[in-house]
Amino acid sequence: MRLDKYLAAGTGLSRSLVHRHLRAGDVTLNKLPIKAAGHIVQTGDLVSLRGELIKLVGHGYWMLHKPAGYVCANRDDQYPTVLDLLAVEIDTSNLQIAGRLDLDTTGLVLITTDGDWNHRLTSPRHSCLKRYRLQLAEPLTASAQHTLEAGLLLQGETKPTKPAQVEVLGERELRLGISEGKYHQVKRMLAAVGNHVVSLHREAIGNIQLDASLAPGQYRLLSPSEITGI
Ligand code: URA
Repeated sequence: MRLDKYLAAGTGLSRSLVHRHLRAGDVTLNKLPIKAAGHIVQTGDLVSLRGELIKLVGHGYWMLHKPAGYVCANRDDQYPTVLDLLAVEIDTSNLQIAGRLDLDTTGLVLITTDGDWNHRLTSPRHSCLKRYRLQLAEPLTASAQHTLEAGLLLQGETKPTKPAQVEVLGERELRLGISEGKYHQVKRMLAAVGNHVVSLHREAIGNIQLDASLAPGQYRLLSPSEITGI
């Protein structure tokens, strides 16, 4: 978010008053004076006006590129959590992780303070499409592809999976779109057709795509259109 917008939102001052403060040298960013109204404030930046820290009220929404080896949980005794990757300035006590990934899965994770938004994204009634990229142990047979596309009964379930979108990218590589989020769903679907997932990466949730500029472990705020476009 632009610095002038951030200051206006965080203080209730008009943009023109904010600009006056900026010109007067009343604003600091990470303790250094700043006058550039268009500077983009990043998550974790400390913005102060006349020495007073300005915080935005309202909900927070982030996308994070999850590396392997991190758990999607608020706390864990054994492994680091995805929340450990956030800057210390972010209050993690009321964060929710929307659509969890396994320890070894990489890719897009959404984190928010907005419980209603999380519910809309993850509730089975909203059927939000999740897109994954998979490496397989064995080539995908035509009949396995057909079964995935038609829907199949997973072990321990009473209803078949909804039809999946399958795009074959290579002999042992595919893109899979599913609109459900059952426990270990992708790995179980591939196991049910006699294959094995070697690596799994989430590329997108609904209209939100993992930003290609984010390296594993990095994150950024969602844009307003990403937040409203789910
Ligand atoms: N399906 C899985 O099996 N694992 C994930 O992490 C996500 C979807």
